[in-house]
Amino acid sequence: MNIVIDRQIYQAREGETVLQVARRHELASIPSLCYHPALRTEGACRMCMVEVDGEHPALTTACSLEASEGLQIWTDTQAVRQSRRQTLFLLLKRAPGSMVLNELAKIYKLEASAKNGNCSDQRNECISCGLCVKVCEVLGIQAIQFTGKGKDRRVRLILQSGESSCIGCQACVRICASRVMEKGHSTSILELDGWLSGLAQATCKVCGRPYATQAAVRFVASQVPATRARIDLCPECKRAASIPRRLIKQ
Ligand code: FES
Repeated sequence: MNIVIDRQIYQAREGETVLQVARRHELASIPSLCYHPALRTEGACRMCMVEVDGEHPALTTACSLEASEGLQIWTDTQAVRQSRRQTLFLLLKRAPGSMVLNELAKIYKLEASAKNGNCSDQRNECISCGLCVKVCEVLGIQAIQFTGKGKDRRVRLILQSGESSCIGCQACVRICASRVMEKGHSTSILELDGWLSGLAQATCKVCGRPYATQAAVRFVASQVPATRARIDLCPECKRAASIPRRLIKQ
């Protein structure tokens, strides 16, 4: 089927959302913060707002809008820009130090006066998109959760009798939209004290370097049996081992 985005025709696949079509065609005109192709969509950040053409034009989130034949979308109308500015205003109140948000604020010409808080405060970078909590849940580990509401919303380790189920896979770090997870485990919004400490490391059978936690290695082996053959090698040694011998110069 075909849909129209800003006067251009794009092919959409059955069941695809407007945002997925836009991403597949590498359109940069729809920003998103809480969308990830591997996770279910919750429409939490509201940054992907677009205008649907019709007798009564309506604003809606592109990440939840399913494509249908002839659907016409505008990604840069005055109403869209105004909506994204309002969303940014609220998000910046919560996370004034977020680089992602500050870059978007420049694009959407949000005045400096609209940004409450200290933009250089590294502790206020989490935009509460929820991707870290969601990926941990989808993997079935459920080691972190949100607690509190509004400005008191926090990402915390779930502890059962003082123990965490975290396996140290760091999927949450890799998926973090504001990259705050990789910077520090304990900030004003991330209360992850003790996170990763005490998790035994697996060392590479060939080079002897630590490359992942033992718990993460066991988890991957149990979930993806095809990885078991070389699970005790670090990524570099695994790559080297997969190069056919005839291609390695003697
Ligand atoms: S990406 Fe659509 S609401 Fe966040």
